[in-house]
Amino acid sequence: MAGPVTLVTGGASGIGRATCRVLAGEGRDIAVCDVNREGAEQTLRILREQSAGNHRACLLDVSAQASWQSLAADLRSDGCTLNGLVNCAGIGRNGDFAALSLADWNAMVAVNLTGTFLGCQFAMTVMPEGGVVVNIASIGAFAGGADIAGYCATKGGVTALTRAVAMYGAPRGIRVCAVAPTYVDSEMLDEVADNFSSRAEMLAGMAELVPIGRVASPEDIARAIQFLMSDSAGMITGTTLQVDGGQLAGLPSRHANA
Ligand SMILES: NC(=O)c1ccc[n+]([C@@H]2O[C@H](COP(=O)([O-])OP(=O)(O)OC[C@H]3O[C@@H](n4cnc5c(N)ncnc54)[C@H](O)[C@@H]3O)[C@@H](O)[C@H]2O)c1
Repeated sequence: MAGPVTLVTGGASGIGRATCRVLAGEGRDIAVCDVNREGAEQTLRILREQSAGNHRACLLDVSAQASWQSLAADLRSDGCTLNGLVNCAGIGRNGDFAALSLADWNAMVAVNLTGTFLGCQFAMTVMPEGGVVVNIASIGAFAGGADIAGYCATKGGVTALTRAVAMYGAPRGIRVCAVAPTYVDSEMLDEVADNFSSRAEMLAGMAELVPIGRVASPEDIARAIQFLMSDSAGMITGTTLQVDGGQLAGLPSRHANA
């Protein structure tokens, strides 16, 4: 019988892939799940080069209940249980708010919010021994951006869902947390970079908005997820951890001539 696995959605790319690598590095068996099968297989190859764990790649559309059900059936038939779930799959659509299409709004709700809801429900049924769920929000959950309004709304929903499901999970031995990253230099920003003369120019502009002076790497976020998944965070549930280089900590101050 196979041992418990840690499932990472959105594992084909960016933060999800970095999270798979970091968690595999501490000896976990990883299920890399994504709607992008080729990307998930590529992450699996990276994991197998890196560590000897019993890793697997699974096709999963987080927005489709049937997809979660078939994943649960596959895990059951392999005798696998889950000890952790990272709901990392997400999409962003940006642009002028008044022009945001209903199709783009619905797509973000389906993947970012419904996908996280279905993942949390799934976790509650396949973690009989308890475990940890980490959801991925964004600083957009706490501070609005006129050109990412729909995205902000879905991520605010993720933080509220995290608190509520934490209440459900607590008596069942399941902690539910979230991380809220600032800008992360992942594939998600590829489309945004098209609006600038170069990716470097985009990243430099973003870095100016982060007190620590740089955007996050996928590994920065993966390390925070690793902490929340660990026993060191055993008393933490319902919390959204801001991983933002201080961006939400304050405003530019003008009380003295510097
Ligand atoms: N990159 C950033 O600046 C940033 C900032 C804050 C929060 N986030 C969040 O971090 C998470 C990871 O983003 P990333 O930066 O690694 O982006 P990414 O685009 O590199 O990765 C997202 C992954 O989600 C997968 N995905 C999309 N729709 C899916 C679906 N229906 N089912 C399964 N998988 C699906 C994609 O195939 C991709 O592999 C997302 O939830 C995102 O909203 C990103």
